[in-house]
Amino acid sequence: MEFIDLKSQYQASRDLINGRIQAVLDHGQYIMGPEVAELEARLAEYTGARHCITVASGTEALLIALMALGLKPGDEVITTPFTFIATAEVIVLLGAKPVFVDVDPATCNIAPELIEAMVTPRTRAIMPVSLYGQPADMDEINAIAERHGLAVIEDGAQSFGATYRGKKSGNLSTIGCTSFFPSKPLGCYGDGGALFTSDDELARAMREIRVHGQSRRYVHTRVGVGGRMDTLQCAIVLAKLGLFDWELQQRQRAAATYDALLGGKVRLVGRRADRSSVYAQYTVVLEQRDEVQKALQAAGVPTAVHYPVPIHMQPAYAQLSGGDSCPVSRTLADRVMSLPMGPYLADADIRKVCQALLDAIDTAAAASLDPISVQV
Ligand SMILES: Cc1ncc(COP(=O)(O)O)c(C=O)c1O
Repeated sequence: MEFIDLKSQYQASRDLINGRIQAVLDHGQYIMGPEVAELEARLAEYTGARHCITVASGTEALLIALMALGLKPGDEVITTPFTFIATAEVIVLLGAKPVFVDVDPATCNIAPELIEAMVTPRTRAIMPVSLYGQPADMDEINAIAERHGLAVIEDGAQSFGATYRGKKSGNLSTIGCTSFFPSKPLGCYGDGGALFTSDDELARAMREIRVHGQSRRYVHTRVGVGGRMDTLQCAIVLAKLGLFDWELQQRQRAAATYDALLGGKVRLVGRRADRSSVYAQYTVVLEQRDEVQKALQAAGVPTAVHYPVPIHMQPAYAQLSGGDSCPVSRTLADRVMSLPMGPYLADADIRKVCQALLDAIDTAAAASLDPISVQV
């Protein structure tokens, strides 16, 4: 069993993917070829945002979003520490300060009720992450941003395709960012990402920043980056788009099977009724995570931890946050564990995972009660 089965996914769309790749090899426009604009049009339509700008990765999308907003050294961006490092990394790269706000213990997404107290005159933006594929509390976050004149950038690297109160992730705030890293719900076969906005000015800025700040050939109107997504990677995403909605249904099916087998027995990441998750990860919360994970490994069940150390406790970032400011994130980092997930995961495999998990939890609980195993 694989943690994420990309081979079956390729087999399901093999002819389409091979055909799209061959078409790029035939026309030879490897940079900014016709597939780039085609994909941008398709994804803008899919999310409902007026503009989609493809970029070299999800990280690059976050960086370009902040550059387009004019983030400067000394500015502050409010974000969550319970995320992949890239979310905070891009803030620091621009000389700005990430201000970490703790997460909701149920959903693992930034807790909106804690945000407003952290707004200062230097705050420029709020960057929530739609973790594990479930959108953050965007309406509450947008309302705070509006009160204080801030931009909201949704880090939707894990949530492309998810819905929130009838709208699609990526189209829920000033700018939405996503990643096409191969293991993401909509992945390419290398690095890739996209920005979404309905603001024409921001879209223009982001398009220019993506190509070295160039407004016309060799006219550099602003400082930019080399941030384009390859034509080949755009072609691969286009080929995979055909099955994407079906794949999302299969992810929901896999999650529902997990829910039925684990619900009431294992703590699951909380879900809200007004939004859908695309289950980039199916994550459980365990008291004895490390023991359980080892037992699952021995049973041949692959698992992963997203994420074992919250960013405010990472060596390179700890001095920015002034100590352990986010205790919920720290506790979750010790307890979360993600199970195999994907559209091609068979129900029989899910049953095997759940049985192994429940057995491992029983064994770990018995060991912790066993007086012989208690060290004195
Ligand atoms: C929440 C989050 N933000 C940002 C990124 C960065 O995306 P990429 O790997 O495409 O640069 C990822 C990807 O792992 C992510 O999960």
